[in-house]
Amino acid sequence: MAEGQSKAKAGKNALKQQLHDKFASDPALANVKFRVNKGVVTLIGKVDSADEVARAKELAMSVDGVKSVRNRLKVASTSAAAGSGINPSEAGRPLLVMPSQDYNRLSDADAGALIAYTKSLPATAGEGAVIRFPFLIKALYAAGVVPDAAELIDHTLPPAAPVPVGATVEHGNYVANMCIGCHGPGLGGGKIPGGPPEWPAASNLTAGQGSALARYESSEKLRAMFRTGKRPDGSAVSKVMPFQSLRVLNDTDVDALYAYLKTVAPRVAGSR
Ligand code: HEC
Repeated sequence: MAEGQSKAKAGKNALKQQLHDKFASDPALANVKFRVNKGVVTLIGKVDSADEVARAKELAMSVDGVKSVRNRLKVASTSAAAGSGINPSEAGRPLLVMPSQDYNRLSDADAGALIAYTKSLPATAGEGAVIRFPFLIKALYAAGVVPDAAELIDHTLPPAAPVPVGATVEHGNYVANMCIGCHGPGLGGGKIPGGPPEWPAASNLTAGQGSALARYESSEKLRAMFRTGKRPDGSAVSKVMPFQSLRVLNDTDVDALYAYLKTVAPRVAGSR
């Protein structure tokens, strides 16, 4: 046992050394720091651009024995940062743009609106976001469901294509980005990653076995639940559902969302 532990420690130090050596050869990345735990490497520190963030990840992945990389690098300053979830003006504090790299990719138009909005904020303003997602994202962020976007975003992906707003499946698919953090990428529901143990599993939003969607025969019923926090039978849905945000979704968004949910491939409850 003790021997196993010291072996693991030696392996960890060897891995750290290899990482240091690799990174030392790239001046832009020479100040990156590492944490290593069972082959999972966390990158910490500041670099100058989103490109360097991406390059650091690739470099770390190229080291033998690295299983995965958690990228917590921040961009110290520069313009390229906005689309990468990093706020250049506040010493690399991550922007609350996206719940995650793979499930909420804002289109350029919405990202542009978000940037324009943040830029337009007078020093005293606190309330009154005009753009469409931040309220929800803030709620998720506060609930601890949303990790810092910068850590998760795939910095190499192109921006999502703009989606016209309307009661369409396409727009519903876009709105449903708000749900996948909890209900899963396939919307099959299940234990919420990162949530406290006492949280109930998120429900199955597909038509598959154990579907909760089956209770909602129309988008009006879904909307009523969003606004009241109650199921059609009057019982209360867990407050883990971010009702303070869902309540203010407009009718078009809910209609679109409902139309989209109806098209999602059936999954068994709990399969995320
Ligand atoms: C912060 C996590 C979270 C987010 C975000 C979230 N949900 Fe949920 N949702 C839950 C949890 C947890 C439950 C289970 C509640 C319970 O069992 O009382 C649930 C339950 C539901 C239910 C079933 C209610 C019932 O009748 O029992 C529906 C429908 C639903 N969510 C739809 C959505 C949609 C659509 C979105 C996105 C617009 C969404 N949720 C976003 C956590 C979340």
